[in-house]
Amino acid sequence: MKALIVYYSQTGNTQKAARKIRDGLKAAGWEVYVSLLKNTKAEDLEDYDLVGIGSPVWYEMTPNMRLFVESLPDQKGKPAFCFCTHGTMPDLYFPLAVPRLMQKGFTVLGWDKWYGNCSIQIFPEPYYTAGHPDEKDLEDAFAFGKKMGEMGAAYCRGENVELPKSPMPNMMPMHANAAIDHLGGFHNVHGKLVRDPEKCLYPKCHICIDHCTMGYNDYSCDPPKYGSEGNCCDDRHGCTYCEMLCPTGAIHPEIPYEQAAPAGQDHGSELFCMVLEKAEKEGKFRRLIPFDKVGTKTPFYSVHNTHPRLKPLSTKADNE
Ligand SMILES: Cc1cc2nc3c(=O)[nH]c(=O)nc-3n(C[C@H](O)[C@H](O)[C@H](O)COP(=O)(O)O)c2cc1C
Ligand code: SF4
Ligand code: SF4
Repeated sequence: MKALIVYYSQTGNTQKAARKIRDGLKAAGWEVYVSLLKNTKAEDLEDYDLVGIGSPVWYEMTPNMRLFVESLPDQKGKPAFCFCTHGTMPDLYFPLAVPRLMQKGFTVLGWDKWYGNCSIQIFPEPYYTAGHPDEKDLEDAFAFGKKMGEMGAAYCRGENVELPKSPMPNMMPMHANAAIDHLGGFHNVHGKLVRDPEKCLYPKCHICIDHCTMGYNDYSCDPPKYGSEGNCCDDRHGCTYCEMLCPTGAIHPEIPYEQAAPAGQDHGSELFCMVLEKAEKEGKFRRLIPFDKVGTKTPFYSVHNTHPRLKPLSTKADNE
């Protein structure tokens, strides 16, 4: 029997989880293929008996993964599972993702999530969740993969499998959207990103075209297309990945990070600490970095202050 894991990962956390889930599925006897979202077509799913879908939490599913799921035809009961990695606030993910998969006709066998380091330009570096996913998280991911493999095999044999109850949204979708807008605004105090053609190396460089989360960018047309609506990506989901990958600094925010979130000023630690302390008390969060080592006054952009700030992920080991 064949399983497919489709994932999106920007900084590698979800990729690590996807690979361990792959190993767990293999341990349960499955032949597994791991596929990057951008290389996956809707019809690819037809060749597999079990499907796993994973992404980081960006308020909910990342918008590229959400659009992919929405584009799928009826899956006629095909077994599936989903997973994510996240920073401090993952709560909207499964209540929105699981029903979305069910609406597409998947039989959802389970879901799981793990903390991951967070690389957001104006957020602390190191972040509160630095060090995750660690070995323990990845052992859990392996166990989750094995369990999904065992359940999937039983389901495919026609045995009676006890399915988990769909996670209840702890807020109405309307409120979820308001929360997403609020969080997006919080990330994007620097306003929209813009591309400076004078500093851009295109056509010698096309990193931000090849790796744009949403596939928005195309500089071969006239006028060149950068981001959504001609100048930037969707404000609400602004990922700033292109800014991080650009080798010359041609992509930059309208309001310089230094101005929008000056280094030395604390940005949002009260809220994050409150949420993490609660999770810690409930045994859901293991702190790997002491609070006094969190970079509340050294935002990501100020520590990674040369271009590029990040390199695209290598997918070489995905199918080893
Ligand atoms: C645009 C954006 C939005 C995010 N929103 C959330 C969020 O709402 N809740 C949360 O817990 N983490 C959030 N994160 C943090 C990521 O979920 C976390 O860092 C994740 O592990 C990254 O996975 P990756 O390394 O596979 O890209 C966000 C990150 C980005 C870039
Ligand atoms: S911020 Fe950049 S990489 Fe992200 S969606 Fe917008 S244009 Fe694409
Ligand atoms: S990454 Fe920077 S230099 Fe390269 S094509 Fe994009 S904007 Fe131009």
